[in-house]
Amino acid sequence: MKMLKFLVKGITKALSTNFFAKLLFGVDCSQSNIYYQIGFSTILMKKSLKKFVKPHDKVIDIGTGAFAIHAIWIKKNIGAEVTATEISDEYIESAKRVAKANKASIKVIKSDLFKSAKGNFDWAIFNPPFRGREDSDGYRITERLLKESPKNIKLMIVSNAFYADLRRIEGIIRDNGYAMIEVITAFLNPSKVYVIEKRT
Ligand SMILES: C[S@@+](CC[C@H](N)C(=O)[O-])C[C@H]1O[C@@H](n2cnc3c(N)ncnc32)[C@H](O)[C@@H]1O
Repeated sequence: MKMLKFLVKGITKALSTNFFAKLLFGVDCSQSNIYYQIGFSTILMKKSLKKFVKPHDKVIDIGTGAFAIHAIWIKKNIGAEVTATEISDEYIESAKRVAKANKASIKVIKSDLFKSAKGNFDWAIFNPPFRGREDSDGYRITERLLKESPKNIKLMIVSNAFYADLRRIEGIIRDNGYAMIEVITAFLNPSKVYVIEKRT
């Protein structure tokens, strides 16, 4: 198990380079001076976006990170309207620079989850920050997202089984009145994307 964790960490570190951001997402992140990880969850989310997001959709990418990688990918590959949010000023600056360098017309705003985001959205996507399976902040923020999300929105929440207890996340989803539309997985990827909507 220790060896496997070490391997996953090593692969994640390798995936953090601009080379892989370009290879996997077609996004040039060289304008960012921030060291940022593109992990298994980031990669798996693309599979879910490809399957569900349509060109006429409006998407909010919550916690877009320093590269706004999903937001830029959606805009350039699907054409949907995207608002990217971040809590970190440093990441917002970096995300704006990366979006500009990639000629992606996305909105990048400072917002604590949905708080400062205006308008209606069809999809909210989120890769919650987890420092480890016992990190209660990660579960708390996932729960907040579910409680604070607008009525008719559908959500994609992605998490890596090495950093989060996925059963606990599934429990939070169920206990907050959401139904599974689909669970996206991929061979040799320890993450899962939960595609969910509010139960009626
Ligand atoms: C695991 S990273 C995901 C980055 C990127 N979306 C990805 O999938 O690779 C989580 C991000 O959420 C941001 N974040 C944490 N709390 C937040 C909050 N309350 N509102 C918005 N963003 C938040 C963090 O700053 C971080 O960039």
